[in-house]
Amino acid sequence: MSKVREIKSVIASELDEFESRFKESMKSNTPLLDKITHYIIKRKGKQMRPMFVFLSAKVCGQINDATYTAASLIELLHTATLVHDDVVDDANLRRGFFSINALWKNKVAVLVGDFLLSRGLLMSVDQQQFALLRIVSNAVQEMSEGELLQMEKARKLDITEEVYFNIIRQKTASLIAACCESGAHSVQADPDSVKKMSDFGEKVGLAFQIKDDLFDYNTNGNIGKPTGIDIKEKKMTLPLIYAISKAQRTDKRWLVKTVKHHNTDKEKVQDVIDYVALSGGIEYARDKMLEHRDDALKILHSFEESEARNSLEALVNYTIERKK
Ligand code: IPE
Ligand code: IPE
Ligand code: MG
Ligand code: MG
Repeated sequence: MSKVREIKSVIASELDEFESRFKESMKSNTPLLDKITHYIIKRKGKQMRPMFVFLSAKVCGQINDATYTAASLIELLHTATLVHDDVVDDANLRRGFFSINALWKNKVAVLVGDFLLSRGLLMSVDQQQFALLRIVSNAVQEMSEGELLQMEKARKLDITEEVYFNIIRQKTASLIAACCESGAHSVQADPDSVKKMSDFGEKVGLAFQIKDDLFDYNTNGNIGKPTGIDIKEKKMTLPLIYAISKAQRTDKRWLVKTVKHHNTDKEKVQDVIDYVALSGGIEYARDKMLEHRDDALKILHSFEESEARNSLEALVNYTIERKK
């Protein structure tokens, strides 16, 4: 059995039930929306966030209706942010197929993202899951702030490692923290365990985004979305930040100048990517990713050992070893 299949087998019936609820939650009578949500459902992602919700819940107690609501809300919200993110990043590929903005244009993608988010919110209001709404709304706020901070830094190109970590904590780790926190909360775990799960999720989330940023440098292997577009979007991630910090003055100037003025010149961008690789930027980012993985596992190991805990540990390892 593959790693993911093994992890999923522990929560197989829950994931099945989740899928049908998730599908149901997207239904609409507006023909264009219905067509697009069908398109989205057919090309589902890895569904790692629902897995984090269910496994965190299972580590702390018994999965119940509130756990399903949390998983659906978070996957809806995640899907909405991806639809918006591809507009922001001007990306035409998602999950191995054309992105919504590529097929239906930006205007439609913005509205579809809003629809998905509001569906998730309404569903949670209907279920009176107000604690969940607080956890997730907080994450949404952080995600928007993180993406905006990232945009500001893309304009100025004055990003430091510290700022990079703040960006990825906000734009990605906050949602994975919300998965683990809401999972634990849904089974009435004690406040201390809920907090620990949130901290655990944040560490995993940091490792998760470093992995994603490494994918952008990895030009071999099909990950189902564009690679090499971070520099094109003037997005400076850890490998590049490290390379710049270690470079001599002239190299530094050349690196920044290329990202600033030649970011759409494929050959020049490739020179930067090659430079980053030679400077050890990839290994450096990988080491940081592993550090955060270890931090996450340390927190996880403070929970009593169980089948669910072992699966959650495997999911953490999958986060950093995955091929897409
Ligand atoms: C992509 O998340 C967005 C990031 C935070 C990097 P995933 O890699 O989990 O995307 P899907 O849902 O599997 O497509
Ligand atoms: C993560 O950043 C975006 C979100 C938090 C929505 P990226 O822009 O790197 O994500 P991908 O690579 O497009 O999935
Ligand atoms: Mg993107
Ligand atoms: Mg990316």
